[in-house]
Amino acid sequence: LDVFLGKIARMHSVEEYRVKFIAYLESTITTKEPKTLYEPIAYILGLGGKRLRPVLTLMSAEIFGQDHSEALDAALAIEVFHNFSLVHDDIMDDAPLRRGKSTVHEKWDINTGILSGDAMLISAYQLLENYKGETFRKLIHLFSKTAMEVCVGQQHDIDFETRDDVTIAEYLSMIECKTAVLVATALQMGAIIAEANEEEQNKIYEFGKNLGIAFQLQDDYLDAFGDPKTFGKRVGGDIIENKKTFLYLKALELSDKAQKNELQHLYAISPKDPSDKIKLAKNLFGSCGATEKIQGEIEAYTQRAFEGLQTLKIASDKKELLLQFGKNLMRRKV
Ligand code: IPE
Ligand code: IPE
Ligand code: MG
Ligand code: MG
Ligand code: MG
Repeated sequence: LDVFLGKIARMHSVEEYRVKFIAYLESTITTKEPKTLYEPIAYILGLGGKRLRPVLTLMSAEIFGQDHSEALDAALAIEVFHNFSLVHDDIMDDAPLRRGKSTVHEKWDINTGILSGDAMLISAYQLLENYKGETFRKLIHLFSKTAMEVCVGQQHDIDFETRDDVTIAEYLSMIECKTAVLVATALQMGAIIAEANEEEQNKIYEFGKNLGIAFQLQDDYLDAFGDPKTFGKRVGGDIIENKKTFLYLKALELSDKAQKNELQHLYAISPKDPSDKIKLAKNLFGSCGATEKIQGEIEAYTQRAFEGLQTLKIASDKKELLLQFGKNLMRRKV
C-alpha cells in the first residue's frame, strides 16, 4: 500500500522543488580548510542561478514514482558538476561576470579556479557514493559518459573559435555535447533512481536533450541580445571571443557578399575596446535575418522535445509539468 500511495503522491511545483533543493544544498556545502580551496566552491554555488538541472532530477524522480528526497544527492551532484563546468568555462571564455558577480578566476586567480573546479568534480562523484548497488552503477555510468561528452563539446567550442569553416551541423553537435546531454542526464538520473524501465529512461533523456539544445540556442541569443542589467554575464561575450554560434553561422549563410566579408572581418580582429565590434555584429545578425531564424530554431527544438514527451507512459498532469517547464525556458531572459 505504501508503494502504491507513493506512486500516486501529488507532484510538487517547480518552485517547491527549487526551494527543497536549495535547502539541501545549503545544509550540505560547508567551507573547510584550506579556505582558498573551499571558499570559491561555496561562492559559486551560493551565487544561485536558475537551478534548472537539479529541479529536473527531483521532478523526474517523482514523475516515475519515487519520493524526491531520494534524488537529492543526485540533484546536488548534477548542480555541483554544472558549477564546476562553469568555473572552468569562464576561464576558457575569459569571462569576467557570472550571475551578476565576478567569476571565480577574476575574484581569486586562474589556479584557484582550476583546482576548486577539480575539487567540485570530485565532490560530485562523492555525492553519488550515497547510492547503492545497481542504482549506483547506472548513475555512475551515465554521469561519466556525460562528463566526457561535456569535455568533447567544450573542446569543439574552443576549436571552432579559430576555424572559419564550421558548419551548422557541427555547431549543433557541439552544443548537444557541451550543454544538452547534461540536461538529459539530469532527467534520466531521476528516472534511474525511480527504477523506471529503460524505454522510459531513454524517452525522458531525449526530451531533455532536445530541450537542452533549445536552451543553448537561447543562451547564444541572450549572449548577444540579452539585457546587461539582468543577464548576469557580459553581453556580447560570444562575439568578443569569436564564438561560432548559430547566430553567426546563420548570418554567414543568409548574408550577401559584402555583409559576409564584414562579418568575417569582425571575427578576425580583437580590438581593445570591443563595443563597435559587438554593435556591428549584432546589426548584421539582425539585418540578414539570423535573429529571426534562431527564434524559429529554439521553437523547433522545444516542439521536438514536446512531441517525444507525448509518448511517455506517465499521467497527463506530469506531462503538463514538463511542458510548462519547457515553455518557461523558451521565454526566459536570464
Ligand atoms: C549556463 O547554464 C551554461 C549553459 C549551459 C548555457 P545556466 O543558464 O543554467 O546557468 P545558471 O546555473 O542558471 O547560472
Ligand atoms: C557553456 O557554454 C557550457 C558549459 C559550461 C559546459 P557557454 O560558454 O555558452 O556558457 P555561458 O554562456 O558562459 O554560461
Ligand atoms: Mg563556453
Ligand atoms: Mg562561457
Ligand atoms: Mg553562453
